[in-house]
Amino acid sequence: MIKLSLRGKLMKLFLAMFIIFIPSAYSLTNLQLAMEMYERIAGAQTRTNDPVIVKMKTLLDQGNKAGAAAEATKVDSFYNITLLEWSKKFFDPENANSIDGELTDASATLIGMIRDDEPFNKIFTADLLYKVDGVAAIRRNNNAHYVRATTDNVNLAQKLEPDTISNVYGIAPDATAGIFTTRGFAQSFLEAGTNRAAIKFINNHLFCSEMEQTGDSTRPGQKIGRDVFLIPNESVPDLHQTYCMSCHTAMDAMRGAFAHYSFDNNQLAYTPNSVHEKYNINPENNRTGFKTVNDSWINYYSKGVTKDFNFKGNQSGNGLKSLGKSLTNSSIFSKCMSQKVFEKICLHKPVSAKERSIVSTLGVEFTNNNYNMKNLFQKMAATVTCYQE
Ligand code: HEC
Repeated sequence: MIKLSLRGKLMKLFLAMFIIFIPSAYSLTNLQLAMEMYERIAGAQTRTNDPVIVKMKTLLDQGNKAGAAAEATKVDSFYNITLLEWSKKFFDPENANSIDGELTDASATLIGMIRDDEPFNKIFTADLLYKVDGVAAIRRNNNAHYVRATTDNVNLAQKLEPDTISNVYGIAPDATAGIFTTRGFAQSFLEAGTNRAAIKFINNHLFCSEMEQTGDSTRPGQKIGRDVFLIPNESVPDLHQTYCMSCHTAMDAMRGAFAHYSFDNNQLAYTPNSVHEKYNINPENNRTGFKTVNDSWINYYSKGVTKDFNFKGNQSGNGLKSLGKSLTNSSIFSKCMSQKVFEKICLHKPVSAKERSIVSTLGVEFTNNNYNMKNLFQKMAATVTCYQE
């Protein structure tokens, strides 16, 4: 037998510690993994002898992680807790990821579409609105229907049912554009201001970006509104070009799509024949600025620092339906949805190269899988390794 030197002994001890401590941090039993997956997907804890857990463990024993995750998405609380919170974050006007807001037609529609396996790229084009069965009818000028569903603790997983926006709000089917034309969206993003908050929403929730990240002063500025001061500060004569333009080039070129929509008298206001007044206020700020006369839009996010967003459809058009279609026909939409699902399952943003690669890969699969959001949740839960953090 070879006698180990002290150094050799220490090395052996070190290796032994390595084997005991490091790998154990990555080895949940299948029962523990089932419990963790359940909690992240269904948004609640359960007992180890819950039949769902028993089934999930069996599937995990067979090496079928996606199958195990799929069992957890069949639990009602996947809709009533997890997706409810996940959807509400889209519509927080402060973009603070708050889940405190009321359930609205907008968040209910996202939840219903996921339950019914509606392709999720239709969220900004479909004439589709989910209401709650058994609750007094929707009123155009308040949110009582959805608030009532919440206070009555209605089981959304079972009681959401599809209707159409055109039927409920009385606007032409062609003028509907999924959640863009819901009362909830309009109240959050079209009420105050100049409809630019809607484009900030697109940046935050379709591109998963802050305005500063997508800004680029080199894009064409001819669509910038007349209210955006040409000389905002006498002592910095080129401030408009160097700073204001970075956001307002692409933002103002896109906001035309919302020109016929607003939130007035507590309801979604659609005026097919006129542009809302807020588009052309304060013309003295910038006499050479753009005057909005119709609902045409251009997508300048397809250029400059955001060209990798990879928009594949029309880069210009009229109205909201065509904008919604164009925006979702891109790499960035799928990747952003994938990121949002990652964050819901892992409870943090993707940070490591491995996590970012999971988000990209599953984003592509989401596109190829006809934008099935339930499936994206299942695959994400089966792929990530964040359960012990
Ligand atoms: C980082 C991006 C960004 C930059 C840079 C920027 N803006 Fe804006 N601006 C926005 C957003 C987003 C809104 C919409 C805010 C809202 O309604 O919530 C907006 C709205 C406005 C409005 C309309 C205000 C209203 O009542 O709705 C004006 C006017 C304006 N900006 C002028 C400027 C000027 C002048 C500059 C340069 C000094 C500038 N902006 C720079 C993002 C930007």
